[in-house]
Formats: sequence, structure tokens, C-alpha cells
Amino acid sequence: MVYLGLVTLHVLAAVVWIGGMLFLGLVITPVLRGRPPGERAALLHIVGRRFLKIGWTALAILLVTGPTMWALLDFRLTPVLITKLVLVAVILMLSLLHDFSLGPRLVAEMQKGGEGSETPRLRRRVALLARLNTLCAIVVLILGLAFSRGL
Ligand code: HEM
Repeated sequence: MVYLGLVTLHVLAAVVWIGGMLFLGLVITPVLRGRPPGERAALLHIVGRRFLKIGWTALAILLVTGPTMWALLDFRLTPVLITKLVLVAVILMLSLLHDFSLGPRLVAEMQKGGEGSETPRLRRRVALLARLNTLCAIVVLILGLAFSRGL
């Protein structure tokens, strides 16, 4: 029963986190693309700050439930799980860079109004980080499913 609760929390957190990132990338960003920079910056700021709390809470739940389940599985280690853990470390680094450094810098540039000389380069970097992070997250999800099935 405890284990079922842990897996449920783990999967729910993965759904909220990955679903949120996909929603931001596939719905919010394209919708804002045609808007004036000031308005886009204001909306990105509000939406980003809200998702920051939800996303990091979901990540924290994954980082608590994952190792707990792993301990209950007697720390069974397979190449699939090792790959998953390496990717989780990569995700944490990408997320820190995106959420607390480059992302806020881009919003600040956009809030100044027009496009500064740094803005397009910063925007490309932030977009690349977000895409890489979502891709890693989907691979981690597939590796989690594979590990559950004995691989
Ligand atoms: C950070 C992003 C993570 C995502 C998106 C993720 C996703 C998943 C998914 C989708 C499953 C399959 C659940 C099932 O089919 O029963 C799973 C299982 C599992 N995950 Fe994660 N996970 C993450 C982090 C972690 C971490 C940090 C650990 C630490 C060891 C971990 C340990 C496990 C274990 C042990 C299972 C197997 C559960 C079982 O077989 O009953 N996960 N994960």
C-alpha cells in the first residue's frame, strides 16, 4: 500500500512537471509570439513565476519518492536506472540555469521594452535549454517505465 502511494505520487509529479513544460512550450510560447515585447515579457514573467513553484515542487516530489522506492527495491541498480539518474542530474543543472539565470535575464531584457543587442541570442539559449530539458524529461520517463518492467 505504501509502495502504491509512492508510485502514484511519483507518476503524478512526473505528469504535472512534464505536462507543464509541454504546455508552456506548445501553447503559451507560440500564443505570445505575436504580442508586443513588453506585454510578452509581463505575461511570461507571471506564468513563469507560477510554474516555477509548481515545477520545482513536482521535481522535489520526484527526488523524494524516487530514492524512497529505490530503497524499498533494495537499491537494485541496472544500466537503465544509472542512465536515468545521470539524466536527472543533467535536468537539475539545465533547470537551475534556465529558471534562475538565463530565463530571468531574458525577461528583464524584454521588460526594458525594445530588443537589446543581447536579446535574440539570449532567447535562442533559453529556448534551447527548455527544449533540451523537455527532451531529457521524456527520456527519463521512458527509462522509468522500462525500469519498472524489469529492464
Ligand atoms: C526527475 C524526473 C523523474 C521522472 C520523470 C521519473 C519518472 C518515472 C516513471 C514514469 C516511472 C514508472 C512508474 C511505473 O510504471 O510504475 C518511474 C519509476 C521509478 N523511478 Fe522515477 N522518475 C524521475 C526521477 C527519479 C529519481 C531521482 C529516482 C531515484 C532513484 C527514481 C526512481 C524510480 C524507481 C525506483 C522507479 C521504479 C518503481 C517501480 O518499479 O515500482 N525516479 N519513474
